Amino acid sequence: MNSIIQFSHVYKAYKQDKPILKNINLNIHSNEFFLLTGHSGAGKSTLFKLILGLEKISSGQLTVFNKNINFYSDHNIHSLRGRIGVLLQNILLISEINAKENILLPLQHLKLDTKTKNSKLDAVSELLALDKYILESFPSELSGGECQKISLARALINDPELIIADEPTANLDKDYAKLVFEYLFQLKNKTIICSTHDQEFFKNQKHFHHVQLNKGEIMSSEVI
Ligand SMILES: Nc1ncnc2c1ncn2[C@@H]1O[C@H](COP(=O)(O)OP(=O)(O)O)[C@@H](O)[C@H]1O
Ligand SMILES: [Mg+2]
Repeated sequence: MNSIIQFSHVYKAYKQDKPILKNINLNIHSNEFFLLTGHSGAGKSTLFKLILGLEKISSGQLTVFNKNINFYSDHNIHSLRGRIGVLLQNILLISEINAKENILLPLQHLKLDTKTKNSKLDAVSELLALDKYILESFPSELSGGECQKISLARALINDPELIIADEPTANLDKDYAKLVFEYLFQLKNKTIICSTHDQEFFKNQKHFHHVQLNKGEIMSSEVI
């Protein structure tokens, strides 16, 4: 299996002498479902920010898509993010535009014709069962669960090879949380990196890689 992300002796401190992540050694393989758990403050979101190039590592080595992230230029970081779909706990939709326009945002800077954009939109709408009514609604007219579906559609619209989902169901009720995980589980040929406190949804999952963080250190790493 190909490694898509490699952490080697990675440390991250926001303030000197207070490392948030300590000696992280980790291989995330392509097409694996990678589950990250740990108490609040363990460093999960920080680890994701390092992968996205939103924060720099303090020491060690981090390779994303076979390239040392320290050597990524701004231009490369930009194209790196284009290959990653991101889903967050706080659902960030733009309130002034409707659901459909929110979903299409990642395509804004790509030179795609309308037909291609629409066929991408149709594909995610079908996958996530988004009907015309939802697509034409504004975020304020939708429930939290529906908004998270829109965020998921936006994360998937450009068919990214990697998806980072940071506690995507933290603000959802159980039914919608279950639905979001069902959608994530059915995705094929994608690497999915997900943190959650809703581990019960993984009970029936056959293949995934589970890493537990505790106070910035890896406590266990298990391939199931
Ligand atoms: N920008 C920052 N500056 C300083 N400390 C931070 C910053 N972001 C996060 N932290 C600290 O890093 C620790 C880990 O935070 P985080 O990665 O958000 O954990 P988790 O996502 O597991 O809850 C926390 O103690 C938090 O206060
Ligand atoms: Mg977090």
